[in-house]
Amino acid sequence: MKSRFITFEGIDGAGKSSQIAAAVALIESKGIEVVQTREPGGTPLGEKLRELLLHEPMHLETEAMLMFAARREHLAALIEPALAAGKWVVSDRFTDATYAYQVGGRGLDEARFAALEQWVHPRLQPDLTLIFDLDPAVAARRLAGTGNAPDRFEREKTDFFERVRAAYLRRAVADPGRVRVIDASQTPDEIRNQLEQIISKVCF
Ligand code: TYD
Repeated sequence: MKSRFITFEGIDGAGKSSQIAAAVALIESKGIEVVQTREPGGTPLGEKLRELLLHEPMHLETEAMLMFAARREHLAALIEPALAAGKWVVSDRFTDATYAYQVGGRGLDEARFAALEQWVHPRLQPDLTLIFDLDPAVAARRLAGTGNAPDRFEREKTDFFERVRAAYLRRAVADPGRVRVIDASQTPDEIRNQLEQIISKVCF
C-alpha cells in the first residue's frame, strides 16, 4: 500500500489532539507503520523552535519564517524519509496552519507564503487534511477549562480565531479533494466515527 501523509488542523481548543490518537490506532490496526508528529516541532531543532514560537515575543514575519524553517527541518529529517520508507505520517498541523494563522489571523500577505511553500515543499502536499471546525467562543471555553497557562497564540482574542477559522474554511473550499471539515461540536464518539469513515474511504 502507498504511504500516506495525513494532517490535522483547527483553531486552538477544537479538540483535534485526542482524535489524532484514535486515527493512529485505526491505521496501526491495519498493520501499517505510522509516524505521529506535530508542527511546529517534530525534530530536536523543530521542538526548540516551537518553544520560541509559542513563548518568545517576536516580529510577525519572524514568526512566519520560523514556522517554515521548522517545517523545512521536519520535512528533511522526518516526513520525507518516513514516506520514502513506505510509512504513513500523521501530523498535528502543517502548512494549512500557516495560511490560517499567519495569513488569516495575523493578516500577512498570502503571496509570500505561496513562495515559501513552493521553496520548502514544491511537490509534497498532504493526501488528506482534516479540519476540526468549532465556534471560537466554544473553543475558548474548552481551553480555559484545561487550566493550562495559555501560549502566545492561545492568548489571542476571539476575533483572531474567527479569522483563523474563516481562513481554514477557505482552504477547504479551495481544495475539497484533499481537505475535509469535521464539525468539532459533535460528541467525541461522533467525531471519531466520522474521522474513521473519512480515513477508511480516502486512504485504505
Ligand atoms: P498546537 O498544535 O495547538 O499545540 P497544543 O495543542 O500543544 O497547544 O500549538 C501550536 C500553535 O502554533 C497553534 O496555536 C497554532 C500555531 N501555528 C501557527 O501559527 N502556524 C503554523 O504554521 C503552525 C504549524 C502552528
